[in-house]
Amino acid sequence: MPCSDVDLSFLRQFIQERSGNVLGPERDNLFEARLFPVWQGRGMGGLEELVQKLRSASDPAFEQAVVDAMTINETSFFRDHAPFDLIREKLLPELIRSREKERRLRLWSAACSSGQEAYSLAMLIRESFPQIGDWKIEIIGTDIHAAMISRARTGRYERMEINRGLPAGYLLKYFQRDGEEWQVVPELRDMCHFEQLNLTHISPFFNQFDGILLRNVLFYFSAITQSRILRCLRTSIRSDGFLILGPSERAEVPDAWQSFLQGNVCYYRPL
Ligand SMILES: C[S@@+](CC[C@H](N)C(=O)[O-])C[C@H]1O[C@@H](n2cnc3c(N)ncnc32)[C@H](O)[C@@H]1O
Repeated sequence: MPCSDVDLSFLRQFIQERSGNVLGPERDNLFEARLFPVWQGRGMGGLEELVQKLRSASDPAFEQAVVDAMTINETSFFRDHAPFDLIREKLLPELIRSREKERRLRLWSAACSSGQEAYSLAMLIRESFPQIGDWKIEIIGTDIHAAMISRARTGRYERMEINRGLPAGYLLKYFQRDGEEWQVVPELRDMCHFEQLNLTHISPFFNQFDGILLRNVLFYFSAITQSRILRCLRTSIRSDGFLILGPSERAEVPDAWQSFLQGNVCYYRPL
């Protein structure tokens, strides 16, 4: 039996409350497709029963499974290329000059999905900046999706994922083959730390970062949530740090972030 409008509206509201992700009614068909494994895996009779359980009992693991299933985890190594070129050619060389005394860098891949963005940063640093080989480099990857964070921690990728965006030379240099999968070498895994974090629940001063990548996630949130997250990030970045969003996203908080355009990539500095 198809889900009622009341149930669909409940699901929309539930997802928005838990993850900030706004799903319009035009995307209601996603619930059937994405929540199928959740209700089927728990022996339920359908989406209606799933909604009934969400309404009636507090079960954090089940609720998290529903939220996770509704996230879009699309990602790839060196996604969009141009932002990584900008980081390599301009943003990191500047930061490295100004951190010569501290000899440490801390970068944040916020909404990192299965970790490709964080490992891309690690590869970029090892490949292009051998002079900071003995610095303390921390790349923190966070995402709301618990299973994505577990996967990111293992650094294991399937052939299809490896074939997306990773230069062949990097595969040979920074991965070890293990059966049908490839695993990021321990040296790069040691640079990256992954934590589950809901961006709608972050508090200011989460950490002091030199650079933040918040790419291809902001557009899932309402304007109010976007601006709250961007203000929180403003308090988490050092004064000469940078923020990069996805190609179709903008930081519309002019008192917190100033935008700069380099080539066709927009990046932000804190005000
Ligand atoms: C499309 S992926 C983008 C991954 C990566 N940043 C990239 O550009 O390739 C969006 C990610 O945002 C995460 N996400 C959605 N809502 C979130 C929230 N409230 N807090 C943290 N992560 C969230 C999803 O789990 C998903 O992994």
